[in-house]
Amino acid sequence: MVVVHNGIVENFLELKDELTSEGIVFNSDTDTETIVHLAENHKASGAGFEEAARRTFNQIEGANVVLLMSIEEPDKIIAARIGNAGGVVLGIGENENYLASDIPAILEHTRKVIFLESRQMAVVTRDGIRIETLDGQVVQPEIHTISFDAVSAEKGEYRHFMQKEIHEQVRALTDTLAGRIDFKEGRIRLPELKLTPELAKRIQRIYITACGTAAYAGMVGKYLIEKIARIPVEVVIGSEFRYSDPIVDENTVVLAISQSGETADTLAAMEEGRRKGGILWSIVNAIGSQAMRIADGYIAMQTGPEIGVASTKAFTAPLVDQYMLAILLANMRGAIDEKTRRELVADLRLVPDLAGRVMDTEAEIEKVAHTLKDIRGCLYLGRGINMPIAYEGALKLKEISYIHAEGYPAGEMKHGPIALIDEEMPVLCLAPKDPWHEKMISQIQQAKARGGTVIAVATEGDELVKGMADHVLWIPEAPWMLSPVVTVLPLQMLAYHIATIRGLDVDQPRNLAKSVTVE
Ligand code: M6R
Repeated sequence: MVVVHNGIVENFLELKDELTSEGIVFNSDTDTETIVHLAENHKASGAGFEEAARRTFNQIEGANVVLLMSIEEPDKIIAARIGNAGGVVLGIGENENYLASDIPAILEHTRKVIFLESRQMAVVTRDGIRIETLDGQVVQPEIHTISFDAVSAEKGEYRHFMQKEIHEQVRALTDTLAGRIDFKEGRIRLPELKLTPELAKRIQRIYITACGTAAYAGMVGKYLIEKIARIPVEVVIGSEFRYSDPIVDENTVVLAISQSGETADTLAAMEEGRRKGGILWSIVNAIGSQAMRIADGYIAMQTGPEIGVASTKAFTAPLVDQYMLAILLANMRGAIDEKTRRELVADLRLVPDLAGRVMDTEAEIEKVAHTLKDIRGCLYLGRGINMPIAYEGALKLKEISYIHAEGYPAGEMKHGPIALIDEEMPVLCLAPKDPWHEKMISQIQQAKARGGTVIAVATEGDELVKGMADHVLWIPEAPWMLSPVVTVLPLQMLAYHIATIRGLDVDQPRNLAKSVTVE
């Protein structure tokens, strides 16, 4: 038997004890080895390959994806998805079929795919794919046709996927708006969300749940939905949601944000929302992923595949998605008048161009990156709607450059972290022309007074910031509620260049996986 395994067999010690007591000798301490012995044991007791595989899958507890091959039937692969483990994509080809954990891996061969559901197994041969539940019921799978092509999963002229994906944001943001905005009437269309005026009016609370970068996007969404639609929003990170006994009822929305749609903690949060009878929504990039399938309604990010481990375009797209969602909710609930709605919608038109203008500043950002390449730490400060951008900027730097970085609400500095600032601790201040601009100016003054090097993200023409900061990353003037879409871009590029100057593998940083499909 040969096994491919993603996940953790939670009851492996128990299973291993049973197998050991039957005289089976283990060669490793891994839980994965248990799977092979289980399957071989079932075969030895007379089961055929498929039956042995099924019995094995039924014994495994926890979130796991398992693929099995047998030396006796080398033309067959049996795959199972047990619990809310990462995805299994089955690709349908001509006289050939594929198994992968994500769509981009097989795009160059086929666009016809089937997604394996939890507690299903697939028997895959060159000629066919048969899907059954782990109880043996045959399943008629839905076949999806994926629209993005292999070209968008290649690096093209860029050195790294991350750099390509940063630049793709101009196109991704255009696609995010395409077909969803009626600029003439000032209206938003998000049909997959299945939102009706009746539903919009009865919503009393929204929980946004997500992990990492997606959670920071959710924090911006909280500002937008509360400001525009006047609905209370709480952001709870995916790994905490189910343990926080959230107050969910039929008038509560649980909105999950996820690039992969397969993040185990985000899916577990969605399950908790379902268990408590809430309305389940998701904003997801990977078409057909679990977070999309189990939601009552969803918004598909229009970014195409994101390959770099550091999320970039799957951060800015949901910012715009949540802005549109906020307008839609506000309109249906009567929280905004027509003039405001039209103005908010009109501002969306500016977004792709604003992003494109930041891309043009990359050479300047690279110069700043050279001056910062040897720093040992960095504080990222922001306020208001740009406060989550401080968290996101710091996460980008730490995950790909391995430099410690901390995102902090600027107003909290005097309650402790200001003690960290000296000549060795640069401070990155998000100071665009937004309602918190003056406060950020005073923050820059305080950092300078303590000898810190200040790197500011500021709006073109801001002479005040220019006169105070050591380096300025310029952005064009943007409507403040959309400013996070713009302010984050120089931070993505800064992190990218610092990491590449340090000679690091930005697309596959150490210790990280693109999708965290286990707890
Ligand atoms: O696929 P998801 O959006 O659910 O992933 C969530 C996080 O794992 C992800 O954003 C992670 O924090 C990235 N490495 C950030 O760049």
